[in-house]
Amino acid sequence: MELCPKSRYYQIIAIVSSILILKLLSLRVEGRSQLESISYPSINCRKHTALLTDFGGVGDGETSNTKAFNSAIANLSQFASDGGAQLIVPPGKWLTGSFNLTSHFTLYIHKDAVLLASQDEKEWPQLAVLPSYGRGRDGPGGRFSSLIFGTNLTDVVVTGGNGTIDGQGAPWWMKYRSKQLNITRPYLIEIMYSDKVQISNLTLINSPSWNVHPYYCRNVLVQGLTILAPIDSPNTDGINPDSCANTIIEDCYIVSGDDCIAVKSGWDQYGTKFGMPTKHLLIRRLTCISPDSATIALGSEMSGGIKDVRAEDITAIDTQSGVRIKTAIGRGGYVKDIYVRRMTMKTMKYVFWMTGSYGSHPDPGFDPKALPEITGINYRDMMAENVTYAARLDGIENDPFTGICISNVTIGLTENPHKLHWNCTNVQGVTSRVTPPACDLLPAKKDNSDCFYPKDKLPIENVKLKTCFLK
Ligand SMILES: *[C@@H]1O[C@H](CO)[C@@H](O)[C@H](O)[C@H]1NC(C)=O
Ligand SMILES: *[C@@H]1O[C@H](CO)[C@@H](O)[C@H](O)[C@H]1NC(C)=O
Ligand SMILES: *[C@@H]1O[C@H](CO)[C@@H](O)[C@H](O)[C@H]1NC(C)=O
Ligand SMILES: *[C@@H]1O[C@H](CO)[C@@H](O)[C@H](O)[C@H]1NC(C)=O
Ligand SMILES: *[C@@H]1O[C@H](CO)[C@@H](O)[C@H](O)[C@H]1NC(C)=O
Ligand SMILES: *[C@@H]1O[C@H](CO)[C@@H](O)[C@H](O)[C@H]1NC(C)=O
Ligand SMILES: *[C@@H]1O[C@H](CO)[C@@H](O)[C@H](O)[C@H]1NC(C)=O
Ligand SMILES: *[C@@H]1O[C@H](CO)[C@@H](O)[C@H](O)[C@H]1NC(C)=O
Ligand SMILES: *[C@@H]1O[C@H](CO)[C@@H](O)[C@H](O)[C@H]1NC(C)=O
Repeated sequence: MELCPKSRYYQIIAIVSSILILKLLSLRVEGRSQLESISYPSINCRKHTALLTDFGGVGDGETSNTKAFNSAIANLSQFASDGGAQLIVPPGKWLTGSFNLTSHFTLYIHKDAVLLASQDEKEWPQLAVLPSYGRGRDGPGGRFSSLIFGTNLTDVVVTGGNGTIDGQGAPWWMKYRSKQLNITRPYLIEIMYSDKVQISNLTLINSPSWNVHPYYCRNVLVQGLTILAPIDSPNTDGINPDSCANTIIEDCYIVSGDDCIAVKSGWDQYGTKFGMPTKHLLIRRLTCISPDSATIALGSEMSGGIKDVRAEDITAIDTQSGVRIKTAIGRGGYVKDIYVRRMTMKTMKYVFWMTGSYGSHPDPGFDPKALPEITGINYRDMMAENVTYAARLDGIENDPFTGICISNVTIGLTENPHKLHWNCTNVQGVTSRVTPPACDLLPAKKDNSDCFYPKDKLPIENVKLKTCFLK
């Protein structure tokens, strides 16, 4: 066989590479105009637009883009008072460590873009512990900043055409399990002390820990998130609204190793001192799969109080419990005015679960006389199949959970259910049209009427989204 002469070889290389370059160039041009025709719903559109590649971003899955993100956002922050800016992450694989958002700003992750979270701890700056927690959750020390972090902002959006954020969490889960961390693992998205926040149309996978954490925010819209993590991964909560007011979480699909949604407001004496409740929260059209955790947990950190939470049109499959209240002596605070309706559940350990003895304290400095107030808990219009326990409701001795109302609920039990279908201690309330019949502490209402669900709308439900373009 004739060997390819060197000159011919170089000729071929030259032709092939010029074709490639032409193709890349045309893709770039086509790419920009194709991008410009993409639209998305948002609380605010922006006057200025940039691509991550304008700031040296490289989407090869190997080059770190932390600097590119930081310089892009530093640059675009100058437009905050001039119509705002959007930063587009185009198709590609973008490795990055933690970076900070700015106000009047949109981060848009294209449908074919994947943000890959760096596994190098040096790419994750450390932050002080949260004031309402007093310590990190994984250890007493500080915490790693979240992948996408923002604090003291107004009008900030993280969205995309269902683009992906991959937390690459496996090494973090391993370090956590083998107790190699005294600093709390990073979350994927955390926005603190901010007003007008939108997080929407994204797929979040394999977070090192929690996925989405709005903390002490107002006017928060979370919409259209797909959140996926192995069902045995540690603390991979889906969405954790924490000390936030006026929040909506809708159209989300969550499979995780911890609670799909966990509503919080601080831990024991730290949460009491911080004193910022989660209130006026609506969760709707949620699908949850979490065999070892709750569909919606209220607590266990609830010392700043949780009130006026509404949830409707919720589906849970192969999940440990429906709505679960978790609290303990020493928490103080309250969980009250909770309204849930239209929940469909299949293969559940518990439909209703309340735990007054959750324990888990930040340190021994909690006040053992600080009793939580759990009252005004309303559940109605639910169907469940293949359930092991209908309800396990454990209040606190001398501090009963009161004002419980459950109506129009049909629970089908598994072939081998727990013998006591409803196990109630230290609770007070009523039921109406509930099968199997509830415990004696929750007697049937004489008039068979339904439990209350509010008719008014939360202000966040009236927010009209605009149609924005990537140009
Ligand atoms: C950042 O902003 C300045 C001022 O608007 C602009 O001139 C400059 O080109 C920008 N930097 C980059 C890398 O785009
Ligand atoms: C991001 O914000 C945190 C908290 O304000 C700060 O400590 C950190 O230095 C910021 N990082 C960058 C790159 O600006
Ligand atoms: C951010 O907001 C919090 C709460 O209002 C405040 O305590 C803190 O000082 C603010 N930080 C900055 C950097 O403005
Ligand atoms: C978003 O992507 C996820 C993962 O590929 C997929 O399961 C989900 O259906 C997508 N959502 C939408 C609205 O397209
Ligand atoms: C973590 O704790 C170990 C001892 O348990 C200590 O040697 C190490 O310095 C700590 N690391 C950090 C980053 O604080
Ligand atoms: C974003 O998500 C919402 C809610 O799931 C959906 O109605 C909307 O069509 C999505 N928009 C885009 C651009 O994907
Ligand atoms: C009872 O709940 C079911 C959903 O499980 C609902 O379809 C039905 O309309 C409810 N009945 C009444 C009278 O509200
Ligand atoms: C019912 O639940 C049990 C667990 O209690 C599970 O093993 C079984 O597969 C479920 N059956 C159906 C039909 O989903
Ligand atoms: C009912 O709940 C109480 C309080 O948690 C517990 O001590 C008891 O063992 C339970 N009863 C049964 C039969 O499971």
